[in-house]
Order: sequence, then C-alpha cells, then structure tokens
Amino acid sequence: QPPNSQTEESCVLKRTDCRAKGGAPGFKVAILGAAGGIGQPLAMLMKMNPLVSVLHLYDVVNAPGVTADISHMDTGAVVRGFLGQPQLESALIGMDLVIIPAGVPRKPGMTRDDLFNINAGIVRTLCEGVAKCCPNAIVNLISNPVNSTVPIAAEVFKKAGTYDPKRLLGVTMLDVVRANTFVAEVLGLDPREVDVPVVGGHAGVTILPLLSQAKPPSSFTPEETEYLTKRIQDGGTEVVQAKAGAGSATLSMAYAAVKFADACLRGLRGDASVVECAFVASEVTELPFFATKVRLGRRGAEEVYQLGPLNEYERVGLQKAKKELAESIQKGISFIRK
Ligand code: NAI
Repeated sequence: QPPNSQTEESCVLKRTDCRAKGGAPGFKVAILGAAGGIGQPLAMLMKMNPLVSVLHLYDVVNAPGVTADISHMDTGAVVRGFLGQPQLESALIGMDLVIIPAGVPRKPGMTRDDLFNINAGIVRTLCEGVAKCCPNAIVNLISNPVNSTVPIAAEVFKKAGTYDPKRLLGVTMLDVVRANTFVAEVLGLDPREVDVPVVGGHAGVTILPLLSQAKPPSSFTPEETEYLTKRIQDGGTEVVQAKAGAGSATLSMAYAAVKFADACLRGLRGDASVVECAFVASEVTELPFFATKVRLGRRGAEEVYQLGPLNEYERVGLQKAKKELAESIQKGISFIRK
C-alpha cells in the first residue's frame, strides 16, 4: 500500500533523511538536465553507484516523474527531485559533484557549434547556481559545444569569485570510449583491454585520438589511422544520423559520463593514480583550455599531463585542432565578457 496517510509519509521521510545523514559514507551528486535523453540513463547509473549517498535530480520538465521512478531502485543512494528554476538552489546546496547534461542536442546537419545560442545561456544560469550554492563542488560539463561551454562556466565562476580551474572539467570521455571500441574492433581485441588517449577538444577535428600512444602498443597502417581518426571524430555524427532527428548519443554518453563521474568520485575519496582524459584549463599548449590526460584527486584535476610524443600525422592534426579550438574558446569567453 502506498504511503498516502500523513503519518506514513512523514515516517518514510524521516527514515530516508536518517539514511542520508548518518548512513553509508558517500558523495552528494546533482544531475542538472536529469530528465533528458542523457540525464535519465545517467541518473539510473548514478543511483547504482555505491560511492553516491545522495542523488539530486534537477530539470525544467518531468523531474518528479524521473525521480519517483529512479527512487524505487533498491540501491543505497537517497534520491530527491527538483523542478524548475525556483528549485535550482535547493538542488545544489551541499553537493560534492554536479553533472550537467542540460541543453538541446544536435539534429542531422547541425554541428555542435549550432547549439551555442541556446546552450550557452542554459550553462550560464546553471553555473551561476553552482557558484552560489556549492562553490567547492567538482563540475562535470557535458552540454555542447563543450569547447565553448567550459570557457563560459570558467568566466561565470571568475565573475562570482569562486573559480578553481581544477574543479571544472569538460566531459570528453565519450571520445575515449569510442576510440577504445573502434580500435579494439580493428585489432580484434576486447575493448576493455584497450586504452587510447584522446586530446584537444570535443568537436570534429578538435577531437584528436593519439593512436601512437594506444595501449596495448600497436601499429596501424596509414589507411587504418585515417579510418580510425575520422570515425572517432565523426562518432557523434554517426549516431545523430542513425537517430534521424531523434537526438544524439544518449546511452553511450550516459555510460561515458558515469565512467568519468566515478573516476572523479574515486579521486575525491583519495584513491591514487586515477587518470582520465578531460577538457580543462591547461598550459599544455598556448590555448587556455585543452583536453589531455589528467590525474583526479581530492581537489579535482590535480595534475594535467603533457601530450607525450606525437607522430607526424598527429602533429598535423594538432595544428588543425588548435586553430578551431582557439575560436570556440574565444566565443565562449566573449559570451560572458561582452
Ligand atoms: P535532451 O534534449 O534529451 O535533454 C536535455 C534536458 O535538458 C531536457 O530534459 C531539458 O528539459 C533539460 N533542460 C533544458 N534547459 C534546462 C535548464 N535551463 N535547466 C535544466 N535542465 C534543462 O538532450 P540530450 O540528448 O540529453 O543532450 C544534452 C546535451 O548533451 C546536449 O547539449 C548534447 O549536445 C550534449 N552531449 C554531449 C556529449 C559529450 O560528449 N560531451 C555527447 C552527447 C551529447
């Protein structure tokens, strides 16, 4: 029987609060855009993560429905839903990690940059909330174009006086996940045995897989290198076209987002040697932001690794990537400074 009398309801609430306060150790995580194509499977997978004790699900639509649904899963995390702008602050207070997949996705024929006009404003509003309510949280930014939304978030945090470059991470994990999968296919290996660093940014030619640094060490013919690089760079478009107007990658993205969020939480817990690729403030190139491997720790991206040795094909790719990235970064910065 559902808890429909007042006593029963308050009883359930009391127990849940107890569990959230004194119960299992874990981190408090908010998902902003939790009712979306990425947000829903991401919420489900985070509810299954034993490192999460409290899960806040925020969206401007359908947050109560997704929350009711997810909250019935018999895993440890306590789930709470928040609907619309007036509840944004309550969703954010006390959070350790904020994951942001809010915003519109691509349709066939669109580039990630075409999303700028809508998503830039959404990311600004959400990051203003983060600056106010949980300035020490780690932020995982998924909303595209990541090459511009991360600089936007940085500018918002600078304005608010809360900017810590170590805590702001653009999620490029899906590019790594795709690279591992496609390379494993070509080599005839299990994808779990493969690790390919992907550097640069998260759009078209700014996505630069470093096949020369793939593990296990492997050699590729020029044709294989060209095929793999293009397929990894166009992986998002492959899904957009296959979905034919119904959106972009959501399920593989939720998987990648959780893989990355879990790495951030293990870093926060103090685990040693947690290393993943992310788009962060960087001095690796002359650009202010760049994706490379980073070491995740208690303070976020505690160490940003150098690119390592590149072959000629990758050096040419790097020049192309930097040219486009510079423009996207500047576009994001100007959006806030103008
Ligand atoms: P979707 O449209 O299915 O979901 C987006 C959700 O955001 C919706 O539930 C919507 O109500 C919500 N939303 C809109 N404005 C909001 C606001 N102001 N506050 C809170 N929530 C708000 O889109 P989908 O497929 O989930 O994609 C989300 C974003 O992720 C897109 O920008 C997409 O381009 C990006 N993406 C990023 C990837 C990456 O590798 N970083 C990969 C795939 C997609």
